[in-house]
Amino acid sequence: MISFLWAEDKNHVIGYKGQLPWTLPNDMKRFKELTIGKTIVMGRRTYESFPNGPLPKRLNIVMSRNPNYQVSDPAVLITDVSELSKYEDDSEIVVIGGSKIFNTFKDIVDRLYVTRIDHEFDGDVKMIYLDYSQFKLIEKKSGTVDDKNLYPYVFETYQRK
Ligand SMILES: NC(=O)c1ccc[n+]([C@@H]2O[C@H](COP(=O)([O-])OP(=O)(O)OC[C@H]3O[C@@H](n4cnc5c(N)ncnc54)[C@H](OP(=O)(O)O)[C@@H]3O)[C@@H](O)[C@H]2O)c1
Repeated sequence: MISFLWAEDKNHVIGYKGQLPWTLPNDMKRFKELTIGKTIVMGRRTYESFPNGPLPKRLNIVMSRNPNYQVSDPAVLITDVSELSKYEDDSEIVVIGGSKIFNTFKDIVDRLYVTRIDHEFDGDVKMIYLDYSQFKLIEKKSGTVDDKNLYPYVFETYQRK
């Protein structure tokens, strides 16, 4: 099964200057819970946004069209979506962005995990258009706002109909 996992603001912004536009520890926690032990697929730019290289306890697959692009062990590089089949097993493949990568998988994604942040941020990358009429909302939960999680946000999960 292929899933998308991302967070977006009121205007569908997901990134700014190569990083996330916000700090939201509870979303990071959900990200970890939903990806540990699974395979994550990301674009080269998203990979470069990680300060410490590949994320631990997950198979990190990085996409770049440059076959000479160096990823740190134990991450693996693929240059085309067709190479993903080598890494497919029974576990969930979680596509974590950015927008170019979401676009590549949008017709075959089965599940969407989205965090909707009720705030407007400066941004230079937006989430792609998704046809939600093809998906059913199966879970919705408001997040806790506190001194470390300053903006209202909702976690939603959709399954392809
Ligand atoms: N809010 C969120 O949930 C979230 C999630 C992810 C990322 N982000 C943010 O979004 C920004 C990065 O996103 P982005 O859209 O600019 O970049 P990206 O999708 O992470 O990476 C784009 C790169 O991926 C490679 N690529 C794309 N399609 C490919 C394909 N079909 N086959 C092989 N390689 C392919 C290319 O690398 P080469 O140029 O090397 O060929 C391309 O330049 C950052 O600001 C990041 O923090 C936010």
